[in-house]
Amino acid sequence: MNTWEARMKETVERELGFQVELVHEGLARVLVPKMDLYLREDKVYEPAWAPVFYNPRMRFNRDIAILFARAYSAHWKSNGKEREPVIVEPLAGTGVRAVRYALEAGAQVVANDIDSSAVKLIELNARINNVSDRLQVFQLDANELLSGLKRKSVYPDIVDIDPFGSPAPYLDAAIQSLGRRGVLALTATDTAPLTGTHLRALRRRYDVEPARTAWEKEQAVRILVGYVIRRAASYGYGTRILLAYYADYYVRVYVELLKGAKRADESLNTLGYGGYCPGCGYTGYISKYTTRCPYCGHELQRIGPIYTGPLCDKEMLDHLLREAHKSEWLAEHERVISFLEAYREECEIEKPYYRIDKICSILRRNMPKINQIVNKLKAHGHKAVRSTYDPRAVKTTAKHSEFLKILSEL
Ligand SMILES: C[S@@+](CC[C@H](N)C(=O)[O-])C[C@H]1O[C@@H](n2cnc3c(N)ncnc32)[C@H](O)[C@@H]1O
Repeated sequence: MNTWEARMKETVERELGFQVELVHEGLARVLVPKMDLYLREDKVYEPAWAPVFYNPRMRFNRDIAILFARAYSAHWKSNGKEREPVIVEPLAGTGVRAVRYALEAGAQVVANDIDSSAVKLIELNARINNVSDRLQVFQLDANELLSGLKRKSVYPDIVDIDPFGSPAPYLDAAIQSLGRRGVLALTATDTAPLTGTHLRALRRRYDVEPARTAWEKEQAVRILVGYVIRRAASYGYGTRILLAYYADYYVRVYVELLKGAKRADESLNTLGYGGYCPGCGYTGYISKYTTRCPYCGHELQRIGPIYTGPLCDKEMLDHLLREAHKSEWLAEHERVISFLEAYREECEIEKPYYRIDKICSILRRNMPKINQIVNKLKAHGHKAVRSTYDPRAVKTTAKHSEFLKILSEL
């Protein structure tokens, strides 16, 4: 820490009344609450206890957000011209993400938080990183900020919603803040409802017929994407799913919205229902009216409407990978590259994953090695990958009957 940073630290601690420390993340140096002071009994840092929220476990999430902003602004602008992306972060915490967007993606950023200490930290962190001229800071309710953006002539390229829990309460205002085209980047940490552990909350929050499948993490992603598609359509936007994934304990989606009734109708056509059969492990998409397993006739777990299309855009993944290879400063560079490489292949398979441990328990047999299953499926001419969603999961294009046959041969 240089003398100037040490002076800033002292000023913050005096003004805010809590201790801070300087952390490095990506190219940014940011002051955050001193993490050692907020440890649980098991000595693990609990970010929710800190006076301003900073979670080092979200570095991977922020790394991908930076790459996305770089890739999107460089290659995906409709006018074909590269220009500084405008990014709005209505729930900014310490401002680490906002500062990184400004520093690492050359963005013009609007950062906001309802909490006064957070706002103070965002302003100081912008100064420490010399990006105050790229960062406008507000202290408003997130929805108030979003609904006031047009009046301020701010038309975001990307709105990044990274809340406590669900992004659903901010979705309508975020959609309405966009111009003809823009991206919603959403994090959801309310995985208990989304994965089907809390069925009533799932129904209330995301307006779906709730269920718990064996592909619960993919279900979580497909519910959130499906919900975004439906909300966007009601405002006359079609959607392009650029990247949607599950990591650690959250869902993250990047969806491009494009104005147009026809586009909106087409996007709605990508919705459907997912099915899981506890009798034979059947996994797939079904019609709204299917109640019985098409394979064994057992009663199905049915969930929907959910998104049934590809969970990434291959061209976008290529851009992200290219940017990732150029960005060695990323906080979790190796993890980012290996995830993007694996996910690029996985996205080609739209059918939900099989949880091999669950299906083997249904079939009352020992679990073969996951790689053995993948190789055998490939040898029979099917696409197959180990899934990034779960170490016990396999994604394949094989039909259920074929999958069971191959499994039984191992
Ligand atoms: C999960 S943290 C944000 C973390 C941040 N995006 C990052 O990457 O480090 C959520 C933030 O939302 C703020 N917040 C909660 N409710 C809000 C609201 N209604 N309007 C604006 N900010 C809010 C909290 O003060 C908190 O700082």
